[in-house]
Amino acid sequence: MDTILIFFSLAAATSAYLLWFWLLARKLNGPKVWPLVGSLPHVFMNRRRFHDWIATNLHATGNAATYQTCTIAIPFLARKQGFYTVTCHPKNIEHILRTRFDNYPKGPTWQTAFHDLLGQGIFNSDGETWLIQRKTAALEFTTRTLRQAMARWVNRTIRTRLWIILDKAAKDHTSVDLQDLLLRLTFDNICGLTFGKDPETLSIDLPKTLSRTHSILQPATLQRLLYPGFLWRLKKILHVGAERRLRKSLQVVENYMTEALDARKETPSDDLLSRFMKKRDIDGNLFPNTVLKRNRPQFRSCGTRHVIGRAQLVLLAEKIIREISAVLQETRGKDTQKWIEEPLTFDEADRLIYLKAALAETLRLYPSVPEDFKYVVSDDVLPDGTALPSGSTVTYSIYSVGRMKSIWGEDCLEFKPERWLSAGGDRFEPPKDGYKFVAFNGGPRTCLGKDLAYLQMKSVVSAVLLRYRLSLVPGHRVEQKMSLTLFMKNGLKVYLKPRQLVAPPKAAVSA
Ligand code: HEM
Repeated sequence: MDTILIFFSLAAATSAYLLWFWLLARKLNGPKVWPLVGSLPHVFMNRRRFHDWIATNLHATGNAATYQTCTIAIPFLARKQGFYTVTCHPKNIEHILRTRFDNYPKGPTWQTAFHDLLGQGIFNSDGETWLIQRKTAALEFTTRTLRQAMARWVNRTIRTRLWIILDKAAKDHTSVDLQDLLLRLTFDNICGLTFGKDPETLSIDLPKTLSRTHSILQPATLQRLLYPGFLWRLKKILHVGAERRLRKSLQVVENYMTEALDARKETPSDDLLSRFMKKRDIDGNLFPNTVLKRNRPQFRSCGTRHVIGRAQLVLLAEKIIREISAVLQETRGKDTQKWIEEPLTFDEADRLIYLKAALAETLRLYPSVPEDFKYVVSDDVLPDGTALPSGSTVTYSIYSVGRMKSIWGEDCLEFKPERWLSAGGDRFEPPKDGYKFVAFNGGPRTCLGKDLAYLQMKSVVSAVLLRYRLSLVPGHRVEQKMSLTLFMKNGLKVYLKPRQLVAPPKAAVSA
């Protein structure tokens, strides 16, 4: 009798669950979902091509550019933690980033996943904690001193280290990993700007410490975001896998931060940390060490790598060089030796319109932050009519925006700097709808370092291209690494040969 009762109860519960699941699955328009595990098997199968998989799912929706899926198909959880809305529709992105900014904070899942790495720093906080830091930082970013400081750090690194490493490689006919070098360079610059201390991870012997931590920190944190929370928490407790590597790398960064903070306390300078240390929050308190330490540099090599790695490299490089040559001919005269003696000043870099277009085009197709996740505070409806339940997650795929024909046209997959130029080719013209291009984010959380980033990228690209011709090492495969910011799995291995520069006749100068 008991057995029959148990059997019927189980059968009734299973039928009720399957009916519930069928009703849920009917409403979801993303990848196929399975009982209990939802679309998790697909996430797992596509973990090595996650960004392209999301783009494919969004394509499959036609012009809708939004889908909904669920990774925990269990009643109560399915419409909360396990529920994902993925979009690349510019109107929806604007709604999330600007119109209803307060309804879409980073939220608890993101903050917990990033807590070990970013604590309560500007990149990981919401509400008042974020606002105070944002206001303080925003004031600093408007000063000319910061631009000058950035120019100083960038130019010094190029002159004293990058060129020496590249010259040696060209002379010895050995290859270099350009991604690794540029990552180190950007990291050193940001550390210099932020803490007044250059860790010199870019040096001739290429030390394998600090800058290498990114290759561990980011993939491990991405795993925390993609899979249900209990999985990474269990790994953390057991101290295994990605969580073990994460803890070790965090220690390296923590030590560096403690050293930098102690050094600044003794000898304040004009760096951001020294300035933050003097500021007070609304209650008149100084920012605590925990906040100062967590405003650590984010590892973004800002896309420079992709420009240099594209197939149209030769043509593109010729156009860029023509433009730089034209500027340098005006500022430094016809002697080409003078063009390569010193890196470009930021004022010279400012004038490079075509190069800026090429960099923007690179970031359109390969945004440094490919996907961003936001928490839905209260029930809402996106401009395209998609209903979002409170407690769920909305992902806006920056990587996919650039790959949608409905947004960027039939030629969206082509690398075309010209789409960023005015009809006369003499002005940089970003799209009228700013939310078609959110590589630097948008709304109240827009990247504060955008202008500096363009100047830095322009200086570095000029410093490399003016001096050398690059060729990809035969057989080298350029592949994406799955991480929170876009990287190439095997780096970008190139050979270098000195470039012969010719001063262009005045008329041949246009981009
Ligand atoms: C190509 C290079 C860069 C790209 C693609 C980029 C992109 C971004 C993105 C997507 C965000 C939003 C992050 C979020 O909401 O969590 C952001 C925020 C920010 N970026 Fe950048 N960034 C770049 C370079 C820089 C540089 C060089 C600096 C500083 C010198 C900088 C300073 C900041 C700051 C302070 C924020 C925080 C804004 C906030 O949360 O209020 N960025 N950036």
